[in-house]
Amino acid sequence: MDLKKLVANEIHRHVAEHLSEEQVYGLLEKPKHAEHGDIAFPAFSLAKIFRKAPQMIAQDLAEKIDSPAISKTEPVGPYLNFFLNKEVISAEILKEVVTQKDDYGQSDYGKGQTVPIDMSSPNIAKPMSMGHLRSTVIGNALANIVEKVGYKPVKINHLGDWGTQFGKLIVAYKKWGDVEKVEQDPIAELLKLYVQFHEVAEEQPELEDEARAWFKKLEDGDQEATELWTRFRSESLKEFMTVYDMLDIQFDSFNGEAFYNDKMDEVIALLEEKGVLTQDRGATIVDLEKYNLNPALIKKSDGATLYITRDLAAAIYRKRTYDFALSLYAVGNEQSNHFKQLKAVLKEMGYDWADDMHHIPFGLITQGGKKLSTRKGKVILLEEVLNEA
Ligand code: ARG
Repeated sequence: MDLKKLVANEIHRHVAEHLSEEQVYGLLEKPKHAEHGDIAFPAFSLAKIFRKAPQMIAQDLAEKIDSPAISKTEPVGPYLNFFLNKEVISAEILKEVVTQKDDYGQSDYGKGQTVPIDMSSPNIAKPMSMGHLRSTVIGNALANIVEKVGYKPVKINHLGDWGTQFGKLIVAYKKWGDVEKVEQDPIAELLKLYVQFHEVAEEQPELEDEARAWFKKLEDGDQEATELWTRFRSESLKEFMTVYDMLDIQFDSFNGEAFYNDKMDEVIALLEEKGVLTQDRGATIVDLEKYNLNPALIKKSDGATLYITRDLAAAIYRKRTYDFALSLYAVGNEQSNHFKQLKAVLKEMGYDWADDMHHIPFGLITQGGKKLSTRKGKVILLEEVLNEA
């Protein structure tokens, strides 16, 4: 239902001699703040015709408006604000949904344009969590919606298959791992190893250095590291797929963080070329003070890249590959700052298309007021929830 049209039609009945319904329609605005109503009509353009101050016109018009679909009008200066009657409108919309069925909302608004949607994106070697469930279903719903209005959605599973945690996992596996157990129940065993790593590292912080060294080896293509990583990844994917099958959700791409490993050098070179990098105690950062954000850490002092570096590479890759009209990220709100930084760095690089990137956040599930932490082994297994449901 076109709500603007509904309001335009109502206004038009009182100004029909002077303006066409299309003209009224064209004038309507959306108030900046929701408390100012759903739709606003600026009365300026009637001032000359009526030989009256726009304020007066707004007031006169307010007295005349009478429609069951409009619960209230409020003249504010030269504007007349309309508050829609949600009950009446909802009933009308539901009627349309019921009669039009699958055709409801269909349009070719986004025809010929692509919208990548970053969704689900669980971390390898860890079980999929409730947070990933929401990212999966919200992302899928967004894909359905953009498709309905004509865009081509590209559902991307930006797997967390890279990062220092793989260094930790390799160290733990080599120290305490049981090949047979891992083969039987990979994710559960790998999770145990991951938790054990963090327990032991509390007493022996030097383990963290070992882990960093192993991740560096992985980044540099070391054979043993790569073999272990490949196994962890494929076992994880197998488990994830059973969940996706349960949900009947498919993806167009599984290009996760690792996919961008060989694209890091180019990103760093681009950042350099645009002159946005600075050095800070051996680390390479982008200063974001003018955006009121903390600096984005692009490269650690040991040369290892970070989550945001891979997201920069992914954003640029998606722009090049899909030339997107919009690029959506269905990710929990605890990463809001990360996405603000990501967009700010791209803006600094002069990429105005960063404005077309949108983080779609959702809340965090806590237990007893505390965050569920994989590191401590506190997870709610998605597969169990789905089975129970
Ligand atoms: N793997 C991340 C996590 O589980 C989510 C990734 C979201 N997508 C992205 N492009 N950063 O927290």
